[in-house]
Amino acid sequence: MACKIGLLGLGTVGTGTVQILLDPMQRHPLVQELELYRVGVRSPDKPRAVNLPDSLVTTDLEAIVTDPKVDIVVELIGGLEPARSLILKAIAHGKHVVTANKAVIARFGDEIFTAAEKAGVYVLLEAAVGGGIPVVEPLKKSLCANRIHTIMGIVNGTTNYILTRMQTEGGDFSSILADAQRLGYAEANPTADVDGLDAADKIAILATLAFGGRVKLSEVHCEGIRQVSAADIAYAEKLNFVIKLLAVAKRNPQISPGDTEQLQVRVHPTLIPKVHPLASVNDVYNAILVEGEPIGQVMFFGPGAGAGPTASAVVSDILNIAAILKVERGTRTQENGAPLLDPLLACSHQHYCAIAPMEELNTRFYARFLTQDYPGVIGSLGICFGNYDVSLESVVQTGLRGELAEIVVVTHDVREGNFWQALAEISTLEAVSSIPSTLRVL
Ligand code: HSE
Repeated sequence: MACKIGLLGLGTVGTGTVQILLDPMQRHPLVQELELYRVGVRSPDKPRAVNLPDSLVTTDLEAIVTDPKVDIVVELIGGLEPARSLILKAIAHGKHVVTANKAVIARFGDEIFTAAEKAGVYVLLEAAVGGGIPVVEPLKKSLCANRIHTIMGIVNGTTNYILTRMQTEGGDFSSILADAQRLGYAEANPTADVDGLDAADKIAILATLAFGGRVKLSEVHCEGIRQVSAADIAYAEKLNFVIKLLAVAKRNPQISPGDTEQLQVRVHPTLIPKVHPLASVNDVYNAILVEGEPIGQVMFFGPGAGAGPTASAVVSDILNIAAILKVERGTRTQENGAPLLDPLLACSHQHYCAIAPMEELNTRFYARFLTQDYPGVIGSLGICFGNYDVSLESVVQTGLRGELAEIVVVTHDVREGNFWQALAEISTLEAVSSIPSTLRVL
């Protein structure tokens, strides 16, 4: 019996998904058993890259998610509403859901997965993080024997493209953003990408998967790349770093047994040593590095967006569900009568992780100062840092910017709260004109 797909949305990823479904040859034989049953669109007359019979296409998206014949609803309309309501309605009608919608999952995952568990349906989201890169299912299945301690990555292609061009061309953020918009690499409204919000959604989802507890998006520290300047990129280069927008989720070390376990979950531009595996991930590519015990490090690299790659992830989720339906349809049930779910594929937690405050983070920092150029200035900076236990790894003064001396310091690992206290004191020094940038260092 064919598995009937109700597709919501025929944009870039929806079109890529239809192209796979309608061209099953030389793919897994199960693709032939998927039936594109209904396609919901907002504007039926819009020209499309795929030709579909009129009988398949409807503007009534609710009719798809409530249709008793549909087995799997594939939500590819994006945005918060009506996506959230349609997903919840599909679940309430016993449909499995496949979605690429990181914004909805990061904000409403609790509501959606609680409903899905009760209804005994799957909500799969491989396409929501890293586009075509398989990372969600590896975290759920292939790596599930590991104790994961860190997951970090470059999960936003737009910002990686902009930073890569800033690095190779030496241009400023705003001119390269404008060019990226002209070339179609950045959205007309670039906020979600350049302010780090898209990456924050993605790392919240990855942290939930890696650490087995939900993460409140409001607790994810999020900085974008607008403040990264050509000067910082040039200094980073001299110091053997590249600057990337890094999304990090990490288990904080437990100081003593019985301490509440806390996670750090954060997105910010970061100086990465050139020898680090993430440093060579350029242009629109994404990569996610997972560290765990006993596996050590494993890195997933590939296209983080685009019709074909993202559709590859969508269809793999559809196939996972179709395979289960094929062998188990209705044979095993929970106490409430709903179908029993595969514990590796379904969401398996209800609690929220405790997130550590940023001031407790231990990290290296890069800071750039513009100061008067007279004897003792570097010494006074060193004294202020020393007052707050901030140890310096390097101090560089390469020249003047106008009348002012430009001094760049890189610290050793320090408590973040101490670094900001030292910086507040430094900003009051008469010799210090401004502190144009501070960035964390991996
Ligand atoms: N806007 C995202 C990016 C792609 O630039 O990577 C979709 O997640």
